[in-house]
Amino acid sequence: MKVLVTGGLGYIGSHVTTLLLSSGYAVVCLDNLDNSSEDVLERIKAISGKSPEFKAVDVRDKIALQQVFTMHGPFDGIIHFAAYKAVEESIKKPLKYYENNITGLINILSCASVTNTPFIFSSSCTVYGQAKELPIDESAPLQPAVSPYGNTKKMGEEIIRDTCQSSKGFKAILLRYFNPIGAHPSGKIGEKPKGVPQNLVPYLTQTVAGIRPILNVFGNQYDTPDGTCIRDYIHVMDLAQAHIDSLVYLLKDMNVESCEVFNVGTGNGVSVLELIIAFERATGLKVPYTISAPRAGDTVSAYASTKKITHTMKWKPKYTLEEALLSAWKWEQQLISKSK
Ligand code: NAD
Ligand code: UFG
Repeated sequence: MKVLVTGGLGYIGSHVTTLLLSSGYAVVCLDNLDNSSEDVLERIKAISGKSPEFKAVDVRDKIALQQVFTMHGPFDGIIHFAAYKAVEESIKKPLKYYENNITGLINILSCASVTNTPFIFSSSCTVYGQAKELPIDESAPLQPAVSPYGNTKKMGEEIIRDTCQSSKGFKAILLRYFNPIGAHPSGKIGEKPKGVPQNLVPYLTQTVAGIRPILNVFGNQYDTPDGTCIRDYIHVMDLAQAHIDSLVYLLKDMNVESCEVFNVGTGNGVSVLELIIAFERATGLKVPYTISAPRAGDTVSAYASTKKITHTMKWKPKYTLEEALLSAWKWEQQLISKSK
């Protein structure tokens, strides 16, 4: 079985590529290295004992992409990660986000749909906004996006749904990730934020490592038990497994609808303060933090109903929050020792 992974050297893509190789799949990995580097390839090999076939291709380059299909296809499945993902930057530079995330998706979809290659898309729980009912299931109404980045996920889902409807035999799964955190247990691959991290866990680990003076907890007067926002943090290894299970489902189950949506989360809502305590418990280290002003546009509470993916694919998260935070810390330490 041969799988094409776009954005395969990035945070989530590198974990999925590693797990695919370890599970016996052959992988062709595309990345324009905009938010990753080629040394990830050696790390993937160090973990899995195998290498993907790597092509430094930009998915906006339609001709180069078609060549990949001609020279390295046919593929049994495509997992599409290649996109920009910085929410704040997307507000300042919306066209950069629409151009990359939408053009790239259209290009890969045109190759995937003519060859009827099963397709998996990285979507986000951001499409639900602040849901009225918790936990959030896949039938919850979608809200207007709060950023151009979020809008590329909503638009992306619609583009894929339309393509599935028009191309008989073409099937896709839209995975709506909740909050991916952590790293491979080996500490060899993980998330490498550019500049100041925007997300909670990399900011926290950089603070504990002394790179940032203090973690700002954005608001403690929300309508939640301890006043801080609630999220559903999922270990990146569990998320990676959900991609493989989705692929197996697309390939094996003849009853699969042409375009299906699945949440990928743990089903547990965790507040910012609870996460800090869990980190301290897991590592034995103190997290210096202060309560600061709420962040504009933050959703108060979001956690997944995981019934659909558990029932349909028998997928279940295996890692605890503490294990996820410990792996994030192990990765941070590895980054520090490499930079010395
Ligand atoms: P990442 O930035 O670490 O990985 C994306 C990879 O795609 C990078 O290696 C980058 O160099 C590459 N890339 C970007 N544009 C490209 C292009 N035009 N051609 C080829 N390669 C390109 O991000 P990630 O966290 O691994 O996210 C992967 C996917 O999951 C993205 O689509 C993201 O929007 C989505 N997602 C991420 C999260 C999250 O919290 N990390 C949550 C929901 C959805
Ligand atoms: N937070 C802090 N301090 C920080 C960073 C975050 O208190 O320094 C808080 C936020 O206010 C929020 C929680 O920690 O309450 C989680 O924040 P993240 O930025 O880590 O995650 P978000 O849920 O806000 O957003 C992320 C991505 C989105 C994506 C979404 C769902 O940034 O792009 O997860 O996948 F859509």
